[in-house]
Amino acid sequence: MYIRKARMSDLKTVIAISRKNRFEVMRDWKDAISSENSEMFLLVDGKMIRGFTGLIYHDWNRTIQVMDVFLEPDLRGRGMGIKLIKFLVSRARRQSNRYRCLIAEAPAIGGIDKFYRKAGFRKCGYNDRYYANGGKNIAIWMSLDLVPAKR
Ligand SMILES: CC(C)(COP(=O)(O)OP(=O)(O)OC[C@H]1O[C@@H](n2cnc3c(N)ncnc32)[C@H](O)[C@@H]1OP(=O)(O)O)[C@@H](O)C(=O)NCCC(=O)NCCS
Repeated sequence: MYIRKARMSDLKTVIAISRKNRFEVMRDWKDAISSENSEMFLLVDGKMIRGFTGLIYHDWNRTIQVMDVFLEPDLRGRGMGIKLIKFLVSRARRQSNRYRCLIAEAPAIGGIDKFYRKAGFRKCGYNDRYYANGGKNIAIWMSLDLVPAKR
């Protein structure tokens, strides 16, 4: 299994996986793959796409945002998620001359923040207006400094 950058020819499959798993069905996957401000990466087994993740680059405040981390259900709980996050962290660190911080959002209900903590992130805030669910779940913001933070 290996990680590679997504191409436009992957778009149909990514949309199909998103729909099948009801995961981020409203996201503009075409934009995620082709925008100048983002990159999408795929976890691939042979020719099969088994998971995906991505980065969104915010030049205005020199941060990089984790787009999503998704694995097919049968692959979960085996360390592959951490493998994907570590890949993103190392890609972000290589651009630490331009970007100062990697940020990620995690729903408070579901415990995903624990997953980000395992990868070296810390909680840096929350947003109770982030998700369109009438406030049932709030977003926890996690961050990982790419360069030592200046106070
Ligand atoms: C979230 C996801 C990518 C994690 O991948 P994974 O391969 O299952 O996670 P790992 O096996 O690498 O787990 C690493 C650590 O994070 C923890 N962790 C992983 N998923 C977790 C979750 N949903 N809740 C709490 N902790 C979690 C694990 O317990 C593990 O800690 P441990 O070593 O103490 O046991 C995967 O479960 C997934 O695709 N979920 C559906 C999509 C999703 O919710 N994505 C996150 C929001 S974008």
